[in-house]
Formats: sequence, structure tokens, C-alpha cells
Amino acid sequence: MLVTGGAGFLGSHIVDALVARGDRVLVIDDLSTGDRVNVNEAAELRVADIADMPGLERALASEKVNAVIHCAAKTKVVVSMEKEDLYRRVILEGTDNVLELAKEMGATDFVNISTGGAIYGETPVCADETVPVDPPSNYGRFKAQAERLVARSTLRSITLRLANIYGPRQRRDLEGGVIAIFVGCWKRAEPITIYGDGEYERDYVYVGDVAEAVMTALRSDHEGIYNIGTGVATSVKELVAALSLVLGPPPGIRHAPARAVEVRRVCVDPAKAARDKLWRPRTDLATGLREMAVAEGALDRQA
Ligand SMILES: NC(=O)c1ccc[n+]([C@@H]2O[C@H](COP(=O)([O-])OP(=O)(O)OC[C@H]3O[C@@H](n4cnc5c(N)ncnc54)[C@H](O)[C@@H]3O)[C@@H](O)[C@H]2O)c1
Repeated sequence: MLVTGGAGFLGSHIVDALVARGDRVLVIDDLSTGDRVNVNEAAELRVADIADMPGLERALASEKVNAVIHCAAKTKVVVSMEKEDLYRRVILEGTDNVLELAKEMGATDFVNISTGGAIYGETPVCADETVPVDPPSNYGRFKAQAERLVARSTLRSITLRLANIYGPRQRRDLEGGVIAIFVGCWKRAEPITIYGDGEYERDYVYVGDVAEAVMTALRSDHEGIYNIGTGVATSVKELVAALSLVLGPPPGIRHAPARAVEVRRVCVDPAKAARDKLWRPRTDLATGLREMAVAEGALDRQA
């Protein structure tokens, strides 16, 4: 198995799940936002940039794999508006290179990690896979184009459009990292910051559940596009209330103006994945928040 971006938040959980089921796992990562400490000791990390094909080929010379799970990407919506070329290079050229490499390495299956959160635009009703994509950012636009590259490939491919993931190892500086930021504030007894009116809604899916979706996608013969989310939109205010039930009242609340390129409501409908017996969410928000708070040292497991 090859996991691109396997030193990152989601990728490292996928690597752990693959190692746990006994797979030999190769990881490609340039460590730009990932960290080698995230990489399971049983996996082999090769540091390379997916946008650099000769470098990739050198890093993986004569290796063979059955499948590729493609997580590596630049992921910041706001930064993608300032660094359009970088985002195009990594997300589009990078995906093209990884598809080519997958074939060279003898892979038959390709799992593409995409985003529901950034490509549907506003979702007053939770979006299913038939909703036309309307990405408001360069990040979302390139991820949508990368999906089309994957769909055109001759490999059996499945694209998972993820909602906002949260869980252990989530970085605080990554977008969608609001839960990591808040848990960190609670832990250090610092005030949390709420942007805009706090009514912004997101669909929060637990990282362990997403890793499970990838495992099933690898075992199954499903193809095409699947949403992976909970179908539940949670506002920032509701999130604060849910965290308060786990960690007690917030240490303080600051208010700041709404941020640019923010969609008000993001929610993806996971019914197709359930109907096709691919996946359904398992971890509710209260349970996931508790798991994360324990893993981040903000809560004792006994509490
Ligand atoms: N976190 C979320 O809420 C979320 C939601 C939807 C989709 N996704 C998707 O999930 C995937 C993983 O995101 P994440 O949240 O774990 O972020 P992350 O930054 O932790 O992981 C991305 C990994 O890719 C690596 N990387 C970046 N550019 C690279 C390059 N040019 N060559 C090689 N490696 C490179 C980084 O070092 C990092 O380890 C991404 O494809 C992202 O678009 C994430």
C-alpha cells in the first residue's frame, strides 16, 4: 500500500489502520504540514514532493503496491486564494503524478481523498453527490478538477468527499481545525475566539470513522464518488455547548469579525455510502469530542 500525505493528520490514521490489518505500508510525504512523528513505526516514510515526478520515481524506485490512498494536498482555503500556483501544482499536477506512479507501481486500486466541505459551496440542505459542485475557493476548485483526473484513470478508483474531520493529531493551524483549536484553549485555560455570529455550521466527522471508510473502500469494489460525513450540521455555538458538556464551561469567549471565503453552512449527505453498504458514521459528536480531549491531554479518561 502507498499512502501519500501519510505523515499528516488523516493520512497517519489511515497508515495506522493499514498497519493494524497487517499491510506493508509506504508513505510519501514532503513533511510540509505533516510530521514524521505521526508515521507509524512499522511504515516506511519516503520524503518527496508529489508535484516532482522525477523525485517521486527516485523515492519509490522498483517498489510495487496493490493500491494507493492519495491524501497529500495543500488544504488551506484562505491561503489557496493567495497561492493559486502552488495549490494548482500540488493538487492538480501532484494528483496526475500520483496516478501515473500508481500505474508504474502496479496498483489496481486508487482511493482519492477529496473534500465535500470545500466543493459544494453553500449547502442549505445537506448535499448529496448529485449536487453540482460550486467551489468558492481555489482549493475547492482544484480538488474538484483532481477528482475528474482520477475518474478518467484506468484504475479502479473511488473518491471520498469528506466533511470536516476532527480527532487526535489534528493540527490547530489547519482550517477546519476549530475543534483542535478549542480543545487546546480549554487545556491551556485560554479564551476561545468565535468568528462572526457563531452560527456558521459544519459537518464534523470523526477521523477514526473516515479511516474506516478508506479500509472498506479498499476491500470493496465500489467506484465513483461518495460523501463521507454525518449529515448533521453543527454551529460553532452548538460545538461550544457540546465541548462544555465534556470539558466544563469555556475558559472565556472572544468575538472577532467573520473571515473571508467562509461558507455559512457545510453539510454532506452520506446516504449513498450507507445505501451501497460502503460506510456509515459510527462516532457521535459527544463521543468523538471526548476521545479527542483525552488524546490531547485536556481530559482524563476516567473523567
Ligand atoms: N481535515 C479535514 O477536515 C479535511 C476535510 C476534507 C478533506 N480533507 C483532505 O484530506 C487530506 C488530508 O488532509 P489533512 O487534514 O490530514 O491535512 P494535513 O496537512 O495534515 O495532511 C496533508 C499531508 O500532505 C503532505 N503534503 C502536502 N503537500 C505535499 C506535497 N507536495 N508532496 C508530498 N506531501 C505533501 C503534508 O506534509 C501532510 O502530511 C487532504 O487531501 C485534504 O484535502 C481534509
